[in-house]
This record gives sequence, structure tokens and C-alpha cells, in this order.
Amino acid sequence: MADIVVKVENLTKRFAEHTVLEDVSIEVQRAENLIVFGKSGSGKSVLLKCIIGLMKPDEGNIFMNGKNLLDFSIKQLNTARKDIGFLFQGAALYDSMTVRENLSFPLKRHFEEMTPKEIEEKVKYTLELVSLEEAIDKMPSELSGGMKKRIGLARSIICDPALMLYDEPTTGLDPITTKEISELILNLQKKFNMTSIVVTHDLICAEIIADRAIFLRDSNVAFEGTIDALTKSDDPFLKNFFSHEIIKV
Ligand SMILES: Nc1ncnc2c1ncn2[C@@H]1O[C@H](COP(=O)(O)OP(=O)(O)OP(=O)(O)O)[C@@H](O)[C@H]1O
Ligand SMILES: [Mg+2]
Repeated sequence: MADIVVKVENLTKRFAEHTVLEDVSIEVQRAENLIVFGKSGSGKSVLLKCIIGLMKPDEGNIFMNGKNLLDFSIKQLNTARKDIGFLFQGAALYDSMTVRENLSFPLKRHFEEMTPKEIEEKVKYTLELVSLEEAIDKMPSELSGGMKKRIGLARSIICDPALMLYDEPTTGLDPITTKEISELILNLQKKFNMTSIVVTHDLICAEIIADRAIFLRDSNVAFEGTIDALTKSDDPFLKNFFSHEIIKV
């Protein structure tokens, strides 16, 4: 039987009269990289926020390793969140903290038993993974956009999550940095057997990372397949999307 890490089951999310997602079901297997496409406003970020528990669905269930997250108490949810890394669009580093402090923060929160020495070692090891050991004492304002993304990535994987959620991880980066960050995401995923859901408009990023892609449209999963199959599809909607919406450099 397939090892399913995330299972979204018949999820519906509304804001007042506006139904953003309706009866959406998605399964992601261990070590699989799933790309989520969709036009602006199609509910991609809402989907990720429901999975991580920042938003509560109106209907449906979300299972993580077979356990229903919606049955969890706040305390259980906080523990479960340790297993889910989330890279927000703006990398969202704490501007008043050094890189060391930014990376130590989630460790202190989730692993109270860790000693300062263990934390320091884990921070250094994780910085090595993103090739930024030299940035440890820097402030976020001293970093370039690409470096901030790397540090944001380091911070989201530092607790060894089983699942990573990425919301537009390469937006605003130039094509070379986009390729570097996408390859880094792929390498980390392979090294740690992580499962990933990646929301992106960026075809370079999608082609590097994706095992499979889905396309959200009209509140549901309208298409599913490999990037190759989706980009070569004869469907007029997909043809239009991939020739206009998507970032091609
Ligand atoms: N907290 C909220 N309250 C009310 N409406 C919301 C809220 N969050 C999202 N929405 C609405 O849900 C819809 C989907 O939003 P979402 O942010 O998921 O879009 P998206 O697919 O991520 O778009 P983009 O590509 O622009 O990031 C939008 O119409 C948005 O206005
Ligand atoms: Mg979004």
C-alpha cells in the first residue's frame, strides 16, 4: 500500500458567500513533490493554510500520517506542526534577530530539552545544508533576496519536518537564483526523504521540483498529471494558462 503522508478529504472552505475550495481531495505520498498551479485567487494559499491548521475548513478532513489534524487540540496541533515546515512567500525572517537567532527560534520552541550547544550545532549544520555558514551572525537586512530565501528555507527545515509546504518559493528571484533555490529544495527533499507541496507560478521551479502537479480551478482540482503532460495538453484552458499566466524566462 502506498505510504500517504497528507490526505485532504472532501475539503470545503468558504468566506461568507464565497466558496474558495469545494469538495477538494488530494493525496501526497512520502517523498513525493506535488506542485499546485492555479490562477491568482484560486485558493492555493488557502489550501496550504488549511493543511497547516492556520485556517479551519468548513467541511472535510485533513490527515497527516493517518491522523486527522482537525480532531487535534491546540497542544496536539502545535506538536504536529513541528513535522510540517512552511516557507511563506516573503521568507518572513524576524528582522530584529540575527540569522543564528532566527534559526534557533523554532528549535527552542519545539525541543525544550535541547542544550545551547546542541542548538548551535544544529543551526550550523542546517546553514551548511543551504551553503550559508558565513551568514550566521548577519541581520536579515544584510542579506540578498536569494540569501533570505535560503535562510528562510533553513529555518523551515530545521526541525526535520516530514512535510514541507512552499508558497511561491521563487517569486521575485532572478532566473539563476530561481534555479538554485529550486535545486536546493529538490536536494533537501531527496536527502531527507521529505514530502513537499509547492505552490508556484514559476515553470522553471515546477520543472525542477515536480513529480506531479495539480491545477486548481473553479474551487476544485481541474487537472492532474506530470508537468510535461500539463504543459503539452491540448486543453484550451491549460494552453492559455501556460502561455500567459506562467512565468517563463
Ligand atoms: N482570510 C480571508 N478572508 C476572506 N477571504 C479570503 C481570506 N483569505 C483568502 N481569501 C479569499 O480566498 C480566495 C483565494 O485566496 P488565496 O490567497 O488562496 O489565492 P491564491 O490562489 O493563493 O492566489 P495568489 O496566486 O494571488 O497568491 C481569494 O478570493 C481571497 O480573497
Ligand atoms: Mg497565494
